[in-house]
Amino acid sequence: MSDLRVRVPATSANLGPGFDAFAVALPLLAEFDVKPARAWSVTVEGNGGDVPIGEDNLFIVGAMAAAKTLGQTIGPLHVTQRSAIPLGRGLGSSAAAIVGGIVAANALAGEPLGRRALLRIAADVEGHADNVAAALYGAFTITLPSADGPIAARFAFPSAWRACLFVPTSQLTTKEARAALPKDVPRADAVFNLAHASAFVAAVLRADGAMLSLAMHDRLHQAARLRLVPALDEIVSAARGGGAFGAALSGAGPAVIAFAPARLASRVTATMEEAATVAGTPGRGRVVRIRAAGAQVVRNQ
Ligand code: HSE
Repeated sequence: MSDLRVRVPATSANLGPGFDAFAVALPLLAEFDVKPARAWSVTVEGNGGDVPIGEDNLFIVGAMAAAKTLGQTIGPLHVTQRSAIPLGRGLGSSAAAIVGGIVAANALAGEPLGRRALLRIAADVEGHADNVAAALYGAFTITLPSADGPIAARFAFPSAWRACLFVPTSQLTTKEARAALPKDVPRADAVFNLAHASAFVAAVLRADGAMLSLAMHDRLHQAARLRLVPALDEIVSAARGGGAFGAALSGAGPAVIAFAPARLASRVTATMEEAATVAGTPGRGRVVRIRAAGAQVVRNQ
């Protein structure tokens, strides 16, 4: 069995109106080196936090789930994990680990599974499909639920736009942020998001910033999460004031993502940082491009 390395991007889901459906891939990477070993083990290098190193490690959980679908046994493996994705911020660190394990297991088995099958396994493990879709496919993805599991459609993102990330120092678990959501939504709110999500897609396809500015609003999840991310409205307003087309909670939060023309992007992150500091939730801004590539396998290190 050859050694391999898997690279998986961070992701930002929802993007305002696309709750559980939209996501983009970001150039903050998680890297996993995989080697055959006597027993399963994980070494976490760098930004590790409380990442589990036993069989509850999400890379291993993903690899085992893929092996189960394949009807094969896998491992034991030694996994070295290095990640530039901040943990617990709504930037897809768990999706990256799950996708990494699934892609690695598929690569070790000779790649019998296509991306759609990988997406289905990843969504089952993660519990929702948006982050794992962008982590697998790259660029901007729309995930459609179907009776046969999720389907992802991938679209290039306008190259003149930048993503302005605001990453607070505090963390929030997706579990807690999902528990805050109401079970049912009023029909008017469903219609609001349907219209805004459609406009968001049109804005991306046409690279139309004015349309994006109209589109980037939500009534399905952000208001319910305000008590967990109390400075959200201030940071979003600051981003728009600094020249962003729009801004939204990144996934379940607490990070915030704004989209802006390249020339205004640094100013946008600075205004987001400033507003967050004033609101008592400091953190750091960062300007990035959307990453076109999804998860990649590099063999024979
Ligand atoms: N769509 C998911 C949510 C993303 O908002 O809960 C979690 O990162």
